[in-house]
Amino acid sequence: MKSHSRKTGKRAASSAASNTVLKDASRHLMNTYKRSDMIFTHGRGCYVFDQSGKKYLDFLGGIAVNALGYSYPDLVKTIRREAGRAVHVSNLFHNPFQGPLAAKLAKWSGMDRAFFTNSGSEAVEGALKLARIAAKQKPGGAKKTRFLALEHSFHGRTFGALSITHPLKYREPFEPLVPGVDFVRLNDVADLEAKFTGEVCAVIIEPIQGEGGIYPVSNEFWKRARELATGHGAALIADEIQCGLGRTGKEFAYQRLTGLPDIVIVAKPLAGGLPLGAFLAREEFAASFSPGLHGSTFGGGPLTCATGLTFLETVERKKLLENVRARGAELKAGLKKMAAKFDFIREVRGEGLMIGVDLDVEGAPYVAEALKQGLLINCTHDHILRFLPPFILTAQQAKEGLSKIESVLARTERPAKSAAVPSATAEALALAAAR
Ligand SMILES: Cc1ncc(COP(=O)(O)O)c(C=O)c1O
Repeated sequence: MKSHSRKTGKRAASSAASNTVLKDASRHLMNTYKRSDMIFTHGRGCYVFDQSGKKYLDFLGGIAVNALGYSYPDLVKTIRREAGRAVHVSNLFHNPFQGPLAAKLAKWSGMDRAFFTNSGSEAVEGALKLARIAAKQKPGGAKKTRFLALEHSFHGRTFGALSITHPLKYREPFEPLVPGVDFVRLNDVADLEAKFTGEVCAVIIEPIQGEGGIYPVSNEFWKRARELATGHGAALIADEIQCGLGRTGKEFAYQRLTGLPDIVIVAKPLAGGLPLGAFLAREEFAASFSPGLHGSTFGGGPLTCATGLTFLETVERKKLLENVRARGAELKAGLKKMAAKFDFIREVRGEGLMIGVDLDVEGAPYVAEALKQGLLINCTHDHILRFLPPFILTAQQAKEGLSKIESVLARTERPAKSAAVPSATAEALALAAAR
């Protein structure tokens, strides 16, 4: 009896605490996200728990950040150790981890040098600055200031990154943006050739578009971008913030394509959830920077860089790229079987543990039903369900995920076709044809 009332008392207290959290959020946070009322309190491995103790299999991974899941023991150990030593020392001095992390990233990527940032967007900004100055320093480079990006791209929310992000809904409210940007149709080589003039200093490409809906660039397109960039003395930049660092079963997604980029941008999983990004560059481009041209107060601090090293070493030691490939193949095969059964699935796309299921109806009701069934997923472009599970996913958990997805697809009342979902538009057809 006593323990029952203690439990009821605890529940009431925790519900009151949740109410306070939601009230404070609603009153004092800026209104930038449509959030559900769920409060996640902790996680372990591939599972995360809400304030009521309900367990969810996490196929979203903090939007491609939690590649080692939650509270991974080696990450926890490094964070605890470095938190007790020096969280920050500034970039006026060396710390024990920034150089070694740069060296490890150089080995993974084929680049030479790194600059560390606090987010993906900040790394994109740095990459644009580096490409611009490298082009300007070339003979006759004063006019080489334009950027090419792709339709449906997403590169971030800061002004430079926003200027090369294609969907109008992100850009238009904040115009005027950085001038001199042209958007090229994904995988349309003729469009790329027409827009790649001598005034271009860089073309920036996500080897697999993430927010855009899990669309891979074709090898033909990438190869031509490489040739044109070399021919015009411009930089080929790979934005690997979402698809890089092992997500596709290779260190970088461009490694399935012919030709190295000049600049590579990483962030999301790099420090296991601590804010750390970087842009990496070949020596020829990196050499354009000299002291004073770029900087960051927090970027590359000892705590985040030590954690980044632990992340990369863990991926190597535990052979997680093999796991990503194996689990990815199982998930894709299972989802393709479902596509044969549910006629509202248009296509299953992706590589490794970056998978999109393209629906011809709105995805939001499926995301909501998945939450009810203890599965965390999300939806891009209103109709593409996106799965970005941790690299440590086991075969058993892949099976559990597939069975939950099948149940979600079967149980959700099929939404009416809506204007938000282009029904095999000319654009979608063009994309498919170009692939
Ligand atoms: C490909 C890509 N580039 C850039 C960004 C922006 O990164 P951040 O949100 O860390 O600024 C994202 C974030 O989703 C991304 O997916």
